[in-house]
Amino acid sequence: MGYMIGIDVGTSGVKTLVVSETGEIVTQATAEYPLYHPKAGWAEQDPEDWWQGTLATLKQVAQNLGPKAAEVKAIGLSGQMHGSVFLDKSGNVLRPAILWCDVRTAEQCRYITEKAGGREQLISHTSNPALEGFTAPKIVWLQQNEPETYRQVDKVLLPKDYVRYRLTGEIFTEMSDAAGTVLLDVTNRRWSEAVLNALDISPAIMPEVKEATDVCGTLTAAAAEATGLPAGIPVAGGGADNACGATGAGIVRAGRVLSSIGSSGVILVHTDKPQTDPEGKVHTFNHAIPNKWYVMGVIMAAGLSLKWFRDNFAHMEKQMESLTGTDAYDLMSQQAAQTPPGAEGLIFLPYLNGERTPHADAFARGVFFGINPRHNRGHMIRSVMEGVVYALRDSVEIIRGMGIPVEQVRAIGGGAKSPLWRQMQADIMQLEVATLNVDEGPAFGAALLAGVAAGIYESVEEAAENTVRITHTTEPNTALTGLYDDYYQLFRSLYPALKDRFREAARLEG
Ligand code: XUL
Repeated sequence: MGYMIGIDVGTSGVKTLVVSETGEIVTQATAEYPLYHPKAGWAEQDPEDWWQGTLATLKQVAQNLGPKAAEVKAIGLSGQMHGSVFLDKSGNVLRPAILWCDVRTAEQCRYITEKAGGREQLISHTSNPALEGFTAPKIVWLQQNEPETYRQVDKVLLPKDYVRYRLTGEIFTEMSDAAGTVLLDVTNRRWSEAVLNALDISPAIMPEVKEATDVCGTLTAAAAEATGLPAGIPVAGGGADNACGATGAGIVRAGRVLSSIGSSGVILVHTDKPQTDPEGKVHTFNHAIPNKWYVMGVIMAAGLSLKWFRDNFAHMEKQMESLTGTDAYDLMSQQAAQTPPGAEGLIFLPYLNGERTPHADAFARGVFFGINPRHNRGHMIRSVMEGVVYALRDSVEIIRGMGIPVEQVRAIGGGAKSPLWRQMQADIMQLEVATLNVDEGPAFGAALLAGVAAGIYESVEEAAENTVRITHTTEPNTALTGLYDDYYQLFRSLYPALKDRFREAARLEG
């Protein structure tokens, strides 16, 4: 029996899984690290924390495996996308990494768009517009704001690729993470010289791009000693967290759609060819499968919206949870379930942290719309859950509008655990919603990629089909189609009406 290790370098922590060839989770470990906000809108992390977290989890799983650690065949890496790690010639980190959720670069996005010859031209080169979260704006920010540091930059790495560097001593990236830089020619699978030149970024600072399933180095003797794993284990290219999350949920064929409600929310659909939204509202990135792509919409506050409600307005449920052990979210769901679909006209816009898809607007904010005296807590909870799904439907509609088949939703994350939220997804999107035997997130997908790199599986598709199974499906209630369509149209009309007001509110807030 051979084992594969998947490591996901996330934003709140690192998760490391050991997976058997048949997809069983043999053991796992997690470690948390801090997220720094040195200024409003900034989000940074210390790459050393990722490394220490990775070491701690690898050490833990090696210990748990005991003698079986010798049977680990390969390691796969996954990680938060877009973060920028700036290294000098000696491989030292020059400043804290600037993360995907950092919004300091509005000015740089405008600059990049202009230098690339306009939004349409940029999208034609890289399949995506410049968004604040992406990597190129961070590189340009460094050029413009910390030129002394920029002069010392020898390589720019994505978060998981930095961890690879520490594990193997090798500097590489792979297609799925390179796609999130807005410097990759996503269609032709190579760095875009046109955009690099326009931004005066030397191609030499960008790492060589491999495939997710390529072996990109082996575990060094030092890393082996520090973790208790055997030296020389191959480390696969791995992938961006969304690509790995999709792989680990079996989104490896056309027609399959991932609906992930974690802190943020993701709608992701597999495509056999690169398909680009001319308006750039959804992202077109390379998949962790050679020569495959995906289209994705991201909403910033999915589970986070319900968590916000729980933490601020559900003290009683939290107390009940500590007394009886029943999850506060389940108690909240019970109240929401007593409220009719549509929450009797109460609509929630889940833009607590601004919004990515479809508005790309850092100023947008959360809204309860249409409160009347009949509304109670159940209505509010229901409207928060429905509002998150309306926001996800925005991505589904854009993807359908691009002519991409959308057939079966596979739900993962906290939103997949709640029967009520699953039913809302089925009813509001009018699609069958499946849940799976595994919901371990990107680390699981990364382990499958490691399995392909080690030759355990022939292909990513085979790895996923051998390990991921549907365990339950939720059918849409067609009796609610009309009602939810009407409420969805009302939901859609609210943001344009409020867009300028959000800016005004931000001005008043200072
Ligand atoms: C995707 C994105 C996030 C991060 C989170 O574009 O910004 O999903 O990858 O880790």
